[in-house]
Amino acid sequence: MPEPLPHPVPFGWFLVSYADELAPGDVRPVRYFGRELVLFRTASGVPALMDAHCPHLGAHLGHGGHVDDEALRCPFHAWAWAPDGRCVDVPYAKRMPAKVERPGALGSYPVVERNQIVWAWYHPSGEKPFFDVVEHPEVGDPDWEPLTRYQWCFRSSVQEIAENGVDPAHFRYVHGMDAVPEGETSYDGVMRRSALEGPRTWENPDGSVQAGTSRLLTVQNGAGQKWTRFWGRTETLLMTIVTPIDDQEVELRFAFTRRREAPGSPEEAIGRASIESIAGGVEDDIRIWSHKVHQARPLLCDGDGPIPEYRRYFSQFYVDAPARERA
Ligand code: FES
Ligand SMILES: [Fe+2]
Repeated sequence: MPEPLPHPVPFGWFLVSYADELAPGDVRPVRYFGRELVLFRTASGVPALMDAHCPHLGAHLGHGGHVDDEALRCPFHAWAWAPDGRCVDVPYAKRMPAKVERPGALGSYPVVERNQIVWAWYHPSGEKPFFDVVEHPEVGDPDWEPLTRYQWCFRSSVQEIAENGVDPAHFRYVHGMDAVPEGETSYDGVMRRSALEGPRTWENPDGSVQAGTSRLLTVQNGAGQKWTRFWGRTETLLMTIVTPIDDQEVELRFAFTRRREAPGSPEEAIGRASIESIAGGVEDDIRIWSHKVHQARPLLCDGDGPIPEYRRYFSQFYVDAPARERA
């Protein structure tokens, strides 16, 4: 096994479910951010994420708990917990214990539903969100295809994965771009924008080969939301979504949508093939990520991207960044 990754779980908005995988009344035990959690959706459709263990006598609400109207009932003694962590009913008590009626009596997480995804705000010391999840107009637009989704789970961290976005050389050597693409990255508070442009050859569905330019813009909004827009032969939006299971392991999801093309047209076939090739290509990244170590003092050359700047940017998402990177 490679040595452990040094970073704690960063704070931000993270996917905890696709919206359509969490129906009203669903209850699910989940483990993210190194914590045992329970995810559910109330009868009226409000998604909620709370700490898993009941403050009464410790039952896991995700194993046998059930949705009762707008609350989650514990499987042990049926106390009912609202999405804000308040206890709203103790069915056999004459008087509710005062402490449990306050929001957060049970740890709960801010949740929003956007881009067909349920996002939860994680902060290690419970600070409230101070930025928002960005909405993508393409998702759900009738001129764009429904999401095509992929999912992987492996040893890595949010920071390591996003670092590839400022590493233009790897596009040549891992992903077979025809040259190291030219790129530029800018930072603005919690946002990072990396634009890349480079020559690319495409194989057409009829087997012929075509040369052109591929352009992409990756935007990162805090630690957990990232997306890339591609312009080449077709137009594609990729949401690259990383959720930390703990400080050593992640779930990575790719959710693509592309502009609708005439069925049977060459553009349509190319659009579909390009999604498959991007999704296939990340498996080459995953092989690197799963086995690499974090080089806190990397040996860089003049052709490398702005790795130190990126690390300084990312360190803002840790309450306790490793001292060397803060400096
Ligand atoms: S442990 Fe949850 S109600 Fe008793
Ligand atoms: Fe990559």
